[in-house]
Amino acid sequence: MDFNALVTQIESVAQGIDTEIQNISSDADLEAVRIKYLGRKGLFAEFTSFIPSVPQESRGKIGQKVNFLKDRIGVLLEERKRQLGVVAPPQEKISLDISMPGMGQAVGRRHPLTQTIDEICAIFVQMGFTVKEGPEIETEFNNFTGLNIPLEHPSRDAFDTFYLESKERLLLRSHTSPGQVRVMKSRTPPLAVVVPGRVYRPDAVDASHSFMFHQIEGLVVDRDIKFSDLKGTLEVFVKAVFGDDIAMRFRPHFFPFTEPSAEVDISCIMCKGKGCSVCGRKGWLEILGSGMIHPQVFAHVGYPSGAYTGFAFGLGIERIAMLKYGITDIRLFFENDLRFLTQF
Ligand code: DAH
Repeated sequence: MDFNALVTQIESVAQGIDTEIQNISSDADLEAVRIKYLGRKGLFAEFTSFIPSVPQESRGKIGQKVNFLKDRIGVLLEERKRQLGVVAPPQEKISLDISMPGMGQAVGRRHPLTQTIDEICAIFVQMGFTVKEGPEIETEFNNFTGLNIPLEHPSRDAFDTFYLESKERLLLRSHTSPGQVRVMKSRTPPLAVVVPGRVYRPDAVDASHSFMFHQIEGLVVDRDIKFSDLKGTLEVFVKAVFGDDIAMRFRPHFFPFTEPSAEVDISCIMCKGKGCSVCGRKGWLEILGSGMIHPQVFAHVGYPSGAYTGFAFGLGIERIAMLKYGITDIRLFFENDLRFLTQF
C-alpha cells in the first residue's frame, strides 16, 4: 500500500462506515465488522503499521485521521449494539470516594418553647407539683364564669376571645386558668398542679404579640395555704430559671379569680436593675400574674365554703423564653426557620 492508496482507503471507510454499521442486525455480524476493522489483523492495524512510512509532513495528519476514525467505529459499534438490545444501557456508576466527608444525618431537637415548658415543669415537679394538661377548646364556664369573670363583666375584655361557631358557646381558651377549674372540679385538696398549654387571643401579630401563645398555670390548694407559700414557691422558680442573684417583687394588681392579686416582677436580667431599653428604664420586668384563689372560684367548683385556701399563678412561656435567650421577636418561635431553631 502506498501513501495515496492509504488516503483513498481511509476516505472510503470514513464515508461508508455509518451505513455499514447501521445495516447490521445481529450480534455476530457486529463482531465480524469489529474484527474486520479493529481486530489484531484488521484494517486499522494495517493502517497503523503503514503510518511510519508516510512522508514526515503528512504523518501527523494521517495519524490523527486514523485514530479519529478508529474511535468513531468503536462508538458506532457500541451504539448499534445498544440499539439491538444486546447490551443493557450503561448503568450510572456508583463511585465511592472514601476521602469525601460523610453524609451526616440531621438530628432533630425539641422546639425552644417545648424546652422551656419542660424545664419549667421540671422545676415545679421537683417541688412536688404534678403536671396536667387541659383541652384548647373550652366551655365559657371554665374559661370565664368558673373563674369569677361574669358574663358582660368588663374584665372579660382583658381576655379577648375566639369563639367557635357552636350552640354551646365553646371557645379557644384565652388563658390556662380554666385548667384550675378542671383540676379542682375533678379532685379534692391537697393539690399542687401545673397546667402548660397553648392559649389564643385575637391579637394583631407583631414583635411581642401572637394570636396563639403558651402559658403555664399553677395552683396549690389545701387547708392552710398562705400568701407566703405563694411567695416562697415563686422565688424558688424564678431563681431556678434566671439564677440566684435575681431579685423579685410583688406588685398589687387585679385579677377576678384571685384576691389579693399581684403581678410579679424580676430585676431586669439585662441591666441588673439599673434601667435599660429591655426593661423600659424601670429596672424590673413583669413575668407573671398570681394571687390567692378567690372564694367565689372555690364555690364554682363545689368546694365547701371556708374549707380551703390556695394560691394560683399564670405565666407566659414565650415571655420567659425571650428573656432567657435574649430573643426580641415572638414571631421567630412560629416561623420554624432552622437557622433559628438549631441554636437551641
Ligand atoms: N390568666 C391570667 C392571664 O392570662 C394570668 C393569671 C393571673 C393566672 C393571676 C393566675 C393568676 O392563676 O392567679 O393574664
